[in-house]
Amino acid sequence: MYQFTEDCLIGISQIDDEHRKLFSLINEAASLPADARTAKTVTSILNHLATYAATHFAHEEAYMIELHDPELELQKSEHQAFTERVHAIMEQPLTDENAAATMDEVLTFLVRWLYHHILSSDMMIGYHKPEDPFAFTPKYYTGIEQIDREHQRLFEIIAETNALIHNNVLHDKYDEIIRLLQELRDYTRIHFEDEEAYMEQIQYPGLEAQIRAHNAFVDKLMSIDMATLDAIDDHQQSYLLELIDFLAGWLINHILKMDTCIGKYEKK
Ligand SMILES: [Fe+2]
Ligand SMILES: [Fe+2]
Ligand SMILES: [Fe+2]
Repeated sequence: MYQFTEDCLIGISQIDDEHRKLFSLINEAASLPADARTAKTVTSILNHLATYAATHFAHEEAYMIELHDPELELQKSEHQAFTERVHAIMEQPLTDENAAATMDEVLTFLVRWLYHHILSSDMMIGYHKPEDPFAFTPKYYTGIEQIDREHQRLFEIIAETNALIHNNVLHDKYDEIIRLLQELRDYTRIHFEDEEAYMEQIQYPGLEAQIRAHNAFVDKLMSIDMATLDAIDDHQQSYLLELIDFLAGWLINHILKMDTCIGKYEKK
């Protein structure tokens, strides 16, 4: 059973319902007994899943167009990559012998991809950027001193990186940007470890959901290709601006939606 957990809720009911439906289709398929996994059944289940996913992507993209969401292009390319991958798997000719294994392959890929995509990308749909996304203000306070201090430090690193990206006078800024991004990676890990240890200590019920969200963010940080960040050109500049906007946006969204709940739980 793959759980559609609370951390996957993005707060837009149609999209949440469709994500939930995707999980239930996956669970239905996963629970099909081995002797029922014939080529014919598996083909029809997988086609149904792929069609449902395509319809859902179309809804999500239409919603984002309406909102003028700046991450539309990013979402489109992630959806596209997913579709291509699923089609590639499904192109292998199905026989009654390999049908069960193919279905497992598709389902495993689907679940991993969905969790990751919902937690790192869909979560940002409809996110309203604050006037100054790099300012650490009291609305982010959890009331837990260590966590607030670490969040503030994360904001500082991001703000510093942002200032450097915008600096058009400094020539050798890329080395420094890379150093800051590395620092952000390291400090994020430390912070997540501390936060998770704290939640464990107070037996916080949302720990699992937090760990999943943290892992999705760490993956995103690890996917930044530092090696290509060494030359100054326009393309690079816009990549960095998008990246830093995403990192700040994710952090704000995560703190407001999830971390502040730790503080509220603690007070109870
Ligand atoms: Fe999406
Ligand atoms: Fe946090
Ligand atoms: Fe957190």
